[in-house]
Amino acid sequence: MAGRVSAPSLEVSDLVVRFGQRAVVDRVAYRIEPGRTLGVVGESGCGKSMTALSLLGLVPAPGEVAGSIRLGGEELIGQSRAAWRGMRGRRVAMIFQEPMTALNPVMRVGTQIAEIMVLHKGASWEAAEAEAVRLLEAVGIASPRDRARNYPHQMSGGMRQRAMIAMALAGEPGLLVADEPTTALDVTIQAQILDLMRELQARTGMAIQFISHNLAVVSELAHDIVVMYAGRVVERAPAATLFAHPRHPYTQGLIATLPDPERRVARLPVIRGGVPNLDHVTGCRFADRCPIAEPSCRSAEPELHVAAEGHDVACFKS
Ligand SMILES: Nc1ncnc2c1ncn2[C@@H]1O[C@H](COP(=O)(O)OP(=O)(O)OP(=O)(O)O)[C@@H](O)[C@H]1O
Ligand code: SF4
Ligand SMILES: [Mg+2]
Repeated sequence: MAGRVSAPSLEVSDLVVRFGQRAVVDRVAYRIEPGRTLGVVGESGCGKSMTALSLLGLVPAPGEVAGSIRLGGEELIGQSRAAWRGMRGRRVAMIFQEPMTALNPVMRVGTQIAEIMVLHKGASWEAAEAEAVRLLEAVGIASPRDRARNYPHQMSGGMRQRAMIAMALAGEPGLLVADEPTTALDVTIQAQILDLMRELQARTGMAIQFISHNLAVVSELAHDIVVMYAGRVVERAPAATLFAHPRHPYTQGLIATLPDPERRVARLPVIRGGVPNLDHVTGCRFADRCPIAEPSCRSAEPELHVAAEGHDVACFKS
């Protein structure tokens, strides 16, 4: 692995994000080693973004975060606002689902990207501005020199998304958290951006947490995968193992809905129903949709356990 020594590992354990009585992220645990990419998958509302936002100290009020997030061995939960601000962009950077949350509306896009390199890498303004243009080009923005002088509102949604990706990469963070980074972009640009992330990872040893509801996109980049359902981790395994031997019925359902490579057509989704109301759940949260549920699945909640070496699953029957 071509990693730099300073790239940190991330260790999340017992992470809980609560809004009032409701835990939207519930005892989540995973780790990411330097140079590795963790894919986080699960359908809308399962807590992917809240997990991501807790890594940057950005869970919105009145959300409360508990548990442990250790980056390079250092505990982040409970640190001061100033400490969070000091590490964002440099130690941890995030590509948000909504670009406008990350871009400053009154600053030229090129200047925003350059500023990160000046602040975090001690580059000169001149070098940083040239590098910003190069990065805008690398994320597929045409006429990057002119675009660097745009304000965010002068760009299209897709272009803003790419500008935000350029900004996140500019700081060469130790950990990159990418929340649905390419969902809105066309396939060619998507592939180009995934390449760019891989390139930077190979050069700097950056760890990546890559979030998507789309298992096919995650599989292009992820070494390891965490599957979330209704705020909980239901399966955790190396990507190849997960695809070859999915153990949780929910993961099996997700894989069954992937386009069939033989026939090149999308199969019909097989997971019917929706995520349960977390206020009233007892037993397995997937029981209402599980094709192999038994009455006993509703009396206790299955905990994540080791099913095989490096392969954890939260289901009584696997
Ligand atoms: N400000 C808030 N107050 C209360 N509940 C919230 C708030 N923001 C989000 N939630 C709830 O937290 C849960 C997890 O949301 P989250 O945004 O993490 O889901 P997600 O997995 O990222 O979904 P998506 O794929 O749609 O982005 C959802 O049920 C959502 O309704
Ligand atoms: S514990 Fe029971 S209901 Fe839950 S996923 Fe496993 S078999 Fe299905
Ligand atoms: Mg989300």
